[in-house]
Amino acid sequence: MFWLASHTKILGAMALLKCIDMGLIGINDSVLEHLPGLAKEEVRLDPNDPSSATQPRVGDITVRNLLTFTAGNAYPVVDILAALNPESIVTDPKAFFPTNKSVYAGSHAANPNQIWRYGAEADYSGLLVEALTNVSLGQFIQTHLLEPAGVEAKDFAFTLDSEQRARLVGQHVRVSPDMLIPRAPIYDDAHIKFESAGAGGFGTISALGQALLHLINQGIHPKTGKRVLSSELVAQMFTPQLSEAQVENGLNQPSQASNDGGVLFPGTPKQWGLGALLFPEGFETGRGKFTLAWAGFTNVNWHCDIEKGVVMLAWSQEIPQDDPIYNNQTRYPIERVIYDAIGNSFF
Ligand SMILES: *[C@@H]1O[C@H](CO)[C@@H](O)[C@H](O)[C@H]1NC(C)=O
Ligand SMILES: *[C@@H]1O[C@H](CO)[C@@H](O)[C@H](O)[C@H]1NC(C)=O
Ligand SMILES: *[C@@H]1O[C@H](CO)[C@@H](O)[C@H](O)[C@H]1NC(C)=O
Ligand SMILES: *[C@@H]1O[C@H](CO)[C@@H](O)[C@H](O)[C@H]1NC(C)=O
Repeated sequence: MFWLASHTKILGAMALLKCIDMGLIGINDSVLEHLPGLAKEEVRLDPNDPSSATQPRVGDITVRNLLTFTAGNAYPVVDILAALNPESIVTDPKAFFPTNKSVYAGSHAANPNQIWRYGAEADYSGLLVEALTNVSLGQFIQTHLLEPAGVEAKDFAFTLDSEQRARLVGQHVRVSPDMLIPRAPIYDDAHIKFESAGAGGFGTISALGQALLHLINQGIHPKTGKRVLSSELVAQMFTPQLSEAQVENGLNQPSQASNDGGVLFPGTPKQWGLGALLFPEGFETGRGKFTLAWAGFTNVNWHCDIEKGVVMLAWSQEIPQDDPIYNNQTRYPIERVIYDAIGNSFF
């Protein structure tokens, strides 16, 4: 079992999309009546200062805003992590990633629809699923996303039982280019206060691989033959959702989602689909056009390549997030070898 961190987000997004397929809400519908906490949140005068004075939000927040990070939310957990002393992350054995509402609750960076910003929208997506269905997010994911993909309940959880904890992969911190040292768990699942669609999942790599496989097969899992999502919504996931201004003012601006606070994949064309990043022109390792991808804090990475028919996951359990040494020396070279081997199309 690996801690998925933000790799959980794609499950939360697919769960919310499933609610659309079930007729519980529409993609353009407001979410505010279901999420009173979100409805009350205000907007910072200074978008980047968590302690800034605020003013009331102007504009509605829809399901689409949650799935595209355009609701204007900041990401309170990332502000908390940014304030930690990097030394203490290495030397202090305590978990440091919060397990309560301080992950998502807080002031917004902007009004809805102005910018793309990596924020608390994913957690609110999970809370919305629970509000719409009266079922816990973990149970909903199990029933509607994992069971149809042939994944056993024991291979995904928001809270680990003793059998799962015995299978937990240890976490590590890079202290130099040549050295990783073990550390105690980053996320304390024994004290979770909510099932976090933003970062709370644990799972096995094969479970998550199976859970994503239907995305390159129009929503039907290719082995079980069961439909997970409608082909219409799967197609929308791979369709660019952001305006040019949202790309320029958001995706192409320095982001807390990047390793060093810089621009994500500078120089590579980017868009956002429903629930994850899109590479409209592919990626240098060989990924095809409109590959959908995201990752988690502990270097857990996934991508779904509909052009070449590839779902690939590359997971470690180490920080810093999006570690360039892991990417350059391990992940991207293996990815290149696989794309070289399969050529331009698997089919
Ligand atoms: C949602 O709104 C978009 C544009 O505003 C429109 O193209 C689309 O048809 C709407 N979808 C639904 C399901 O109402
Ligand atoms: C959330 O947990 C953190 C510890 O991770 C604690 O410092 C904080 O007070 C808690 N916040 C709330 C809103 O419960
Ligand atoms: C959830 O519970 C509320 C109130 O208890 C009820 O109105 C609603 O129909 C339930 N929703 C579902 C999907 O069961
Ligand atoms: C990783 O590769 C990128 C692109 O080739 C390069 O810009 C960067 O300096 C490399 N970083 C490390 C730590 O190897």
